[in-house]
Amino acid sequence: MTTIPRQRPTLSSTSGTGHARILGIGGYRPERVVTNDEICENIDSSDQWIRERTGIVTRRFAALEETVVDMASAAALEALKSAGLTPSQVDAIILATVTHPYQTPGAAPMVADRIGATPAAAFDISAACAGYCHGIALANDMVRGGSARFVLVIGVEKLSDFTDRTDRGSAFIFGDGAGAAVVGPSDFPGISPTVWGSDGARWETISQRNSWIEVRDQHVEWPAITMAGQSVFRWAVYSMAPIAHAALDKAGIKAEDLDAFIPHQANMRIIDALVKQLKLPEHVAIARDIADTGNTSAASVPLATKRMLDSGEAPHGGLALQIAFGAGLVYAAQVIVLP
Ligand code: UT7
Repeated sequence: MTTIPRQRPTLSSTSGTGHARILGIGGYRPERVVTNDEICENIDSSDQWIRERTGIVTRRFAALEETVVDMASAAALEALKSAGLTPSQVDAIILATVTHPYQTPGAAPMVADRIGATPAAAFDISAACAGYCHGIALANDMVRGGSARFVLVIGVEKLSDFTDRTDRGSAFIFGDGAGAAVVGPSDFPGISPTVWGSDGARWETISQRNSWIEVRDQHVEWPAITMAGQSVFRWAVYSMAPIAHAALDKAGIKAEDLDAFIPHQANMRIIDALVKQLKLPEHVAIARDIADTGNTSAASVPLATKRMLDSGEAPHGGLALQIAFGAGLVYAAQVIVLP
């Protein structure tokens, strides 16, 4: 082992702001509305079954030429506008997606270029439906730690590209869209400590059907996302309520202090089950964006948040518990002060 022959200089270190919060929210919903009847053209199902088992009435599908980068950029610009910031003030972009069709490069640098945020740090994260809540946790720590002042967190999916339209177990559930938030310095704590984790032993319950290597070597079909619906449903209903409780505890608040509950829009029955287990009081507004948005994975929490704020269902400056879970399996939950 060699020893350092000279006095080692001390490295300088960042010191961030004391606190961070969400300063603005944006969203993008593609134009095309897809009904359950249209979905049923390819699977043996019915409008009634899909409504009863998922709460989904319609979802949006992006146009053929519309990309993850297009949708993310639209949501990001709206979030910046609502935060009163310009793209040049963005220090970092965290983009959560599982449907950007390039293995590399990530979509985030393209979004940075598209909206005029270069040379912001820009990278993608893969945490499926929980990607946005993971991004909020990272952005909170980046701002508080001083590695960035303003961070754009984007959740975006074009799931219509990775859905097997003939798969009776998943064809009806997914939709396309993008949501974005700007996280920046705050005088008060605006994002609570995150409760997050993973259960990788269950990775196969939601997964791309084939790996890219199998697609190359075995000429298997397009690697659409498939889901062991019932297993995921049970996991979400029984394992996520304790995580939501833990997030409230870590935030130092009680369910009655909440103004809104914004769970991942996976299935209306999962939302109802969580609301029941958490014993949320009447005054807490519940996000039910899934009815006409479907399950948009990483985009679902920010899109639902934006809708609740725009419609007045949830108050600006109020407290919201957000929780998301999905492929991995992974999950993340935190309490936020609504922008
Ligand atoms: O976002 C990431 C996380 N994802 C989720 O959280 C999704 C979690 N899972 C779910 O939301 C639900 O499991 C689904 C909505 C995907 C499925 O609902 P389910 O109540 O779990 O359905 P199931 O698979 O238990 O099937 C119930 C019945 C079966 O018929 P029998 O055996 O009771 O006669 C199925 O054959 O429904 C039948 N079925 C269908 N019927 C009409 C299954 N799929 C369909 C269908 N249309 N598409």
